[in-house]
Amino acid sequence: MITGLTDFAMPFLRTLDPERAHEITLRAMEAGLYPRQCEADDPRLAQKIGVLDFPNPIGIAAGFDKDARVPAAILDSGFGFAEVGTLTPRPQTGNPTPRVFRLPDDGAMINRLGFNNEGHEAALARLKGVKARGVIGVNIGANKDSTDREADYVAGLEAFSSVADYLTVNISSPNTPGLRDLQAPKELDHLLSRLMAKRAELVEAGVPQRPIAVKLSPDIADDDIAPICEKIMAHGVDGLIISNTTLARAGLKARDHVNEAGGLSGAPLYEPSTRLLAKVYVLTKGQIPLIGVGGINSGETALGKIEAGASLIQLYTGLVYEGPGLVGRIKTALLSGIERAGVNSITDLIGTRSHDWAAKI
Ligand SMILES: Cc1cc2nc3c(=O)[nH]c(=O)nc-3n(C[C@H](O)[C@H](O)[C@H](O)COP(=O)(O)O)c2cc1C
Repeated sequence: MITGLTDFAMPFLRTLDPERAHEITLRAMEAGLYPRQCEADDPRLAQKIGVLDFPNPIGIAAGFDKDARVPAAILDSGFGFAEVGTLTPRPQTGNPTPRVFRLPDDGAMINRLGFNNEGHEAALARLKGVKARGVIGVNIGANKDSTDREADYVAGLEAFSSVADYLTVNISSPNTPGLRDLQAPKELDHLLSRLMAKRAELVEAGVPQRPIAVKLSPDIADDDIAPICEKIMAHGVDGLIISNTTLARAGLKARDHVNEAGGLSGAPLYEPSTRLLAKVYVLTKGQIPLIGVGGINSGETALGKIEAGASLIQLYTGLVYEGPGLVGRIKTALLSGIERAGVNSITDLIGTRSHDWAAKI
């Protein structure tokens, strides 16, 4: 769908079917054809969050590299971390094609891929062979036909704890029917109990304790935000990723594809996902690291997420429209933001405008 190669290749890739363009991009990256970042990142962009060291706060969002084919190339091209997946225990093909649509007038996409992926075993074998220095997270999910979805997440934690720097529990994809019900406070409580028990068991067996993040939907009901945060804190979850794609379609300019089923990503998601991020930051008093994702397509929107409460950010759709040069432009903008504010590091900007964002209607 995406980036790849260089900004130069973008107009060409955008003439192709989105999934085909994405496959070409991944193959190019597998073949080593991608722009590399040669110089080290400015130390003012670096952060230590829990046990993890991030050279810069910009990550690639889940869904770009579902099968862990190119995490080292992603890190090499200047990202501060890479999240692979979503991976389900067994391989599955996902929904019938076409299932990804570009909405260029809105800088947006709609996808209903439905967790197409090669399953745990294939990704695990690849990740075992990765020698990259840098943070690689693994995003785990449940098979569509699973009879015990919680067990699928527990299996993901077990499978990837030996190789992942962190794990993301994705209970917010709109493309697996019923999956988002796991975000209901009671269901979440139960799922987190099982996951934390498994993590403790793994640690007991000598596996390193991996941070666990939960990825939320921007469509959760306002009344559920506080109870969800309570459960997250009570179980000692290490981070929240806010947010996944939305089912909302308000305010789109595009005429084509707007009524396609699936999750909307890109520019129209920026405001709602940033508002939810800020609300969660305020409710949790900044005590839990947040990864802000949704609609980042410029230095300014990246800085906005951090000021709203994100310690780290992730991108996907912005890369499709802006090309891989976006990562460098965001770094430059973040450094300017640090200088303008007269502070020493990116950490000093986190949440500085959270109350403004949380109050936005
Ligand atoms: C084509 C596509 C596939 C995606 N697949 C996944 C996925 O497998 N797991 C997941 O947690 N999020 C997935 N996402 C959601 C992104 O990780 C991200 O949360 C969302 O797109 C908002 O960010 P953006 O506006 O920068 O794209 C996908 C997004 C797109 C566009």
